[in-house]
Amino acid sequence: MTDPFAPQAFAGQGVLVTGAAGGMGAETARAFAAHGATILLADRDHAVHATAAAIGQHATILDVADPASVTAAFATADDILPRLDAVISCAAIITAKGLTEMDQAHWRRVLDINLTGTFLVIQAAAARMRAARSGSIVCIASDAGVRGGGGLIADAAYAASKAGVLSLVKSVARELAGQGVRINALNPGPSDTPMHRGISDELKARIAAGLPMGRMGRPEDMAAAILFLCSPAASFVYGAALDVDGGSMFR
Ligand SMILES: NC(=O)c1ccc[n+]([C@@H]2O[C@H](COP(=O)([O-])OP(=O)(O)OC[C@H]3O[C@@H](n4cnc5c(N)ncnc54)[C@H](O)[C@@H]3O)[C@@H](O)[C@H]2O)c1
Repeated sequence: MTDPFAPQAFAGQGVLVTGAAGGMGAETARAFAAHGATILLADRDHAVHATAAAIGQHATILDVADPASVTAAFATADDILPRLDAVISCAAIITAKGLTEMDQAHWRRVLDINLTGTFLVIQAAAARMRAARSGSIVCIASDAGVRGGGGLIADAAYAASKAGVLSLVKSVARELAGQGVRINALNPGPSDTPMHRGISDELKARIAAGLPMGRMGRPEDMAAAILFLCSPAASFVYGAALDVDGGSMFR
């Protein structure tokens, strides 16, 4: 069996990571780079250039909610990467509005980025991978997509968008059957990343204490699971949703 964590496990491979300026996307790019891959880090935040430069990799500006921007980012990937072996869809926003304060513009914005953006990225990735009859797509959903939101840090729009991502991944898995391409989802639990820069340390401590593992997730927890999902060690993992959530379902 191939070791997904061998130093050169992804040597010669090309990987596109969306939402890679910071947090889980940046750590995933770092992990792939440490294992020999060439990475295109894509984000709407211009900080992605510094994140990529720090690991000697490539960056492009991408707004996943804009079809033209997605087309341009994949064209850049075609130019820069040796092949397109893996696409990791991390880009998303989180919001925490109550139902009564939630207007349609808010709902649309969250769904446009988190769900439509994931759809556009999957569509572009699958077109290339189908033609090559190889590749792996991993979409970051959320424990909120399974448990629902409406709590302290994730609202109904966020949770619905992530439930949509889970259903989208299953639907695409059915369509991609027999074409040499794998697609899976990852459900992180509450994790200490820039996404939660607005919440207090006190609230983070409460969230951590409420999880069976007694801590919030770390970007490294997600990166390790993503490398596994993209490796030959996961060659029989298909259309799955892997929970990496410290036991969030049991709180
Ligand atoms: N942090 C958590 O608690 C948690 C829990 C479950 C799931 N997730 C999911 O994990 C993924 C990574 O999140 P993170 O925690 O690393 O947060 P993060 O905020 O550090 O990363 C998200 C990235 O997406 C980018 N982004 C936002 N809108 C974009 C757009 N329209 N186009 C391109 N890029 C865009 C942001 O600039 C940011 O760099 C997200 O899909 C998030 O929903 C996070």
